[in-house]
Amino acid sequence: MRFGHFDDANEEYVVTTPDTPLPWINYLGNQDFFSLLSHRGGGYSFFRDARLRRLTRFRYQSVPADNDGHFFFVNDAGDLWSPTFAPVQAKLDSYECRHGLGYSRITGSRGGVEVAVTYFVPLDATAEVQRLRLTNHSDTAKDLTLFSYVEWCLWDGLDDMLNLQRNLSIGEVEVDGSTIYHVTEYRERRDHYGFYSVNAPIEGYDTDRDAFIGGPWGTLAQAAVPRGGRPGDSLAAGWCPIASHCLRVPLAPGQTRDLVFVLGYAENPDDDKWEPLGRTIRSAPVNETLGESSSAGSGADPAADDPGAAEGRVPSRRPMVADTAMGRPQPVGVNKVRARALLARFDTAEKADAELARLRDYWRDLLGHFQLESGDEKMNRSVNLWNQYQCMVTFNLSRSASYFETGIGRGMGFRDSNQDLLGIVAMVPERARQRILDLAATQFPDGSAYHQYQPLTKRGNHDLGSGFNDDPLWLIWGVSAYLKETGDLAILDERVPFDNDESLARPLIDHLVASWKHVRDNLGPHGLPLIGRADWNDCLNLNAFTRTPGESFQTTVNREGRVAESVFIAGMATACCPDLADLLDRRGETSIAAEVRQFVAAMRVSLHDHGWDGAWFRRAYDAFGQPVGSAENEEGQIYIEPQGMCIMGGAGLDDGRAAQALESVNQRLASEHGVALVAPPYTRYHIELGEISSYPPGYKENGGVFCHNNPWVIIAETIAGTPERAFDYYRRITPAYREAISEVQMTEPYVYAQMIAGPAASRFGQAKNSWLTGTAAWTWHAATCWLLGVRPSLDGLVVSPRMPESFGDYAVTRKYRGATYHIQVTGSGKTGRGRLTVDGAPVDGEVVPVAPRGARVEVRWEGR
Ligand code: BGC
Ligand code: NOJ
Repeated sequence: MRFGHFDDANEEYVVTTPDTPLPWINYLGNQDFFSLLSHRGGGYSFFRDARLRRLTRFRYQSVPADNDGHFFFVNDAGDLWSPTFAPVQAKLDSYECRHGLGYSRITGSRGGVEVAVTYFVPLDATAEVQRLRLTNHSDTAKDLTLFSYVEWCLWDGLDDMLNLQRNLSIGEVEVDGSTIYHVTEYRERRDHYGFYSVNAPIEGYDTDRDAFIGGPWGTLAQAAVPRGGRPGDSLAAGWCPIASHCLRVPLAPGQTRDLVFVLGYAENPDDDKWEPLGRTIRSAPVNETLGESSSAGSGADPAADDPGAAEGRVPSRRPMVADTAMGRPQPVGVNKVRARALLARFDTAEKADAELARLRDYWRDLLGHFQLESGDEKMNRSVNLWNQYQCMVTFNLSRSASYFETGIGRGMGFRDSNQDLLGIVAMVPERARQRILDLAATQFPDGSAYHQYQPLTKRGNHDLGSGFNDDPLWLIWGVSAYLKETGDLAILDERVPFDNDESLARPLIDHLVASWKHVRDNLGPHGLPLIGRADWNDCLNLNAFTRTPGESFQTTVNREGRVAESVFIAGMATACCPDLADLLDRRGETSIAAEVRQFVAAMRVSLHDHGWDGAWFRRAYDAFGQPVGSAENEEGQIYIEPQGMCIMGGAGLDDGRAAQALESVNQRLASEHGVALVAPPYTRYHIELGEISSYPPGYKENGGVFCHNNPWVIIAETIAGTPERAFDYYRRITPAYREAISEVQMTEPYVYAQMIAGPAASRFGQAKNSWLTGTAAWTWHAATCWLLGVRPSLDGLVVSPRMPESFGDYAVTRKYRGATYHIQVTGSGKTGRGRLTVDGAPVDGEVVPVAPRGARVEVRWEGR
């Protein structure tokens, strides 16, 4: 069952009912200011860090779900409704939500009135714009009253929920004409404030939540102020500050009215925080002696008799009377210069529309770097649009803020962010470069790394620390992906601190060497890498041995840790360390390159001798040296991760083991909803394995379809020469192909979810944790580089198609190092071998050499 449809021409997903199985969200913003927005107007905003700079409040686990957001109320002669359906939930005559690239337009109509709200975060703006169009389609005149609504978060998303005894007393606001300012804690240590404005005179405002809702027993759905049709002009002092505008909107039959609301964030320099209060109304007065520099901007006359009159209908309510003549300090408010400048950018609908158009051009240009034309519209829309888009969002936010991640608990993951690079390096190489330098700076001199860092400070997270022994290798993987895309070998000479300590700065290449050495120097009894706290599978905690409820599986280590080994890390080392050796060779550092190659060769031997179980690759050895992921085990006999990773490292390709391992995957792990992580899943708690066995069978790491590593198997299948199976697995997890079963999947049909419940689960096929998952980057990488076979390398663009023959011919337009390659593929999947021509001339091998910037290169690949 579907709850909407793709509109490919407009690059949108159109949700056609508010009653989806879960909130279906979109992300607005791409650099500093972000909003999460559901198809009902639910969600929240933050500046850079979803925990530390949260603008608007969101209650998790609310009933009904998704109960906080950026909402509007329409009062049409006593009939109360919301154009985004929530929060009023009055039945709408028509409804649709168009989630597009960086914007969403939600349109609702009732009683002949249509209201379309377009939400977006413009480029280079720390603000969310809400552009409204109200149209009277009826043949009677309407006299509407419109109310906006956001609830402020008191900045720190966690403290906001925990420290009520303080927080209920600190809320402060200012109201200046049509702009409501959130200034809690500004009087003391904060230099930032929020604001919410509309480009029209207002009838009044509300800034106190209880006054707006109608006391503690009111509901947002039936909030007293919009129900009554008149603003309360409430001034928040403590409790819960909100921002609501009230506007009268008379509309003749057929008439349309446009309004632009802006929810923004601004920072002031410490010596320029204040301005005279003027006509501004403030919850609590502040007296400051104004310095020379602080009076800029307001232009208001502090001595005006009735500031309310100047603003029209806003009542006068000045907190205190200034007596400048007597030389007393005058009351001041937040310096609003920066807010005003931002508001001026969007103070007409035309300006807002132009910004939206700019945003759309920006996305079109970004996504234009890879465009597929094929007979499969689901593949086209996945590859050309939604998968790329999700890669950007995931890169921006790592795993911090989604409807499944609160934005409070986690910073940027070291391994996650390195993998995210695979998805975006071609779109925003300069941002990838910066991310690499930030990540490397959190590495320790011995090559290990903080598992996470905070985006606001870029410092490693001490609470979590290090000890995830796959982390170091992901830096090699990320840097190598960056170099294959850009050829920017100079980055290897950038001096980057270790442990954020400038005195420990070394060229980036030394960080990569340290990564490799960390693995080399931490091998266990079978010559395989020690696993540490966990490897990619955060839930395989072979040294934790935890019995205490609530204790963290990831940070508790109760064994000394020199026995438990990871076959996965071994496979990973064989997959990425050859790239490191190539880089070292190119730099003339040939003796270290040779050492790296020797290490890889030794690792291949260990894998061969101790990584193979008979019909598939083992997963690990536990703290007693017993195999994990082996036919010898009662439960958890086969894991997906080493099958994909070891084959990506080349294991088993010449002795039949790869084919056999993939056959085992197909027999034991593959299901109609994707390839499960482990089988059979654990039914009891295995203290020697950790968190994986804490999940009910079929969920998450314990035998869910953990979509992130399906692409590893997809890639392995393309390498092993079985493209039908590769593409089949791809379709099983890719949302566009699952759209028709949205009632089963439940999450958004336009983005991947981290997990689909596996065959053993009671709700097999149901997805969770949509949006922020390594699945985005990896499926993108698998689809474009391996299935479609257009793959950057240090020397040029590899063209090596691996789509099944049944897929038919296709063409790819790929921008690469400043040139545009138009690649036509015929006969993919016939034998896997093909003839390559570049601008009409045959080329040996599969590498299309790098063309000059600006060139347009015609490439043909014909299967034989
Ligand atoms: C989840 C993992 C996640 C880990 C660290 C576990 O509970 O199952 O998927 O990586 O927490 O946040
Ligand atoms: C989610 C984490 O973000 C990722 O780093 C990890 O690899 C997977 N879970 C698997 O446990």
